[in-house]
Amino acid sequence: MLIGTAVRPDQLSEAAYASTLAREFNMLEPEDVLKWEVVHPEPQSFDFSQGDQLVDFAIRHRMKVRGHTLVWHQQNPKWLTEGKYTSGELAQILEKHIKTVVGHYRGKVFAWDVVNEAFDEVHPGKLRSTIWRDQPGIGLAGNGSSYIERCLRWAHEADPQALLFYNEAGAEVVNPKSDAIYAMVRDFRQRGVPIDGVGFQMHIEKLHADVASISANIKRFTALGVQVHITEMDVALPVDAAGTPGAEDLQKQANIYREIANACLSHRGCTAIQTWGFTDKYSWIGWHSKHAQGAALPFDRNYGAKPAHEALRGALERAGSR
Ligand code: XIL
Repeated sequence: MLIGTAVRPDQLSEAAYASTLAREFNMLEPEDVLKWEVVHPEPQSFDFSQGDQLVDFAIRHRMKVRGHTLVWHQQNPKWLTEGKYTSGELAQILEKHIKTVVGHYRGKVFAWDVVNEAFDEVHPGKLRSTIWRDQPGIGLAGNGSSYIERCLRWAHEADPQALLFYNEAGAEVVNPKSDAIYAMVRDFRQRGVPIDGVGFQMHIEKLHADVASISANIKRFTALGVQVHITEMDVALPVDAAGTPGAEDLQKQANIYREIANACLSHRGCTAIQTWGFTDKYSWIGWHSKHAQGAALPFDRNYGAKPAHEALRGALERAGSR
């Protein structure tokens, strides 16, 4: 079982950060440094320095690396979003980006989030309007998910061994969004489009998770022959001005971590559980919620193990001894 976490290279020089990361995880994923705005800052130049740092750390500590992410509507550089490119130019830019980044990490990144969050928030089941799909798009607007197919094929050409994932938010349960992804993945599998897995982000809010529905969803996707990874799990808690959560909430949080881990562990095709960071000291939830929420990860700000960590460890140990 792969147990991973999102990582920021700036923090590796902090001894407690690096030692906790190396001790507790066998997989890491760059949280931001393989996104376009970092890795492709100018039209003609790529900057792999920060990604390489993380890959080196992973190699030294025998960890696998998940790549995130090649095609997204966020964290793109201005030269790209404001470049007024035609569809033909954009297609060339995207093909070059995918092939250069996947090619650079060929044999080092074992799985890629090729496309991230392509389905709409407001009209569930519909594809989101993005620079890649139809603003202006890479020339396949109006052809459903074919732009996603094209991206998968480019990534596969660049590294035929890498596992290729579609990653999504808010599709953890059976709902219109996951129904649409299911239909897309089934179609891709039937036609031999290279897709190996689906990532469910699992950012949990309001201490609520419909675990039965999550389990049913994992079941139907793995039945298609693709792997499922839980890619970005965190469980946000209400916090006071000092960032401290309530004791009862920490227990509820632990239960959610345990139940989600068990849901993954009970399906053979669910092969990775990853949290979006590991210490509350560095978590996107704080600024994302304007500091109303926080404390979302298994370790506190001093790298102490929280009830959530014990819950995860317990679930993994029980599964390991079955
Ligand atoms: C977040 C990072 O955690 C932040 O550091 C960054 O500023 C914004 O992006 N879904 C994703 C991730 O797929 O890439 C996002 O990561 C969180 C939501």
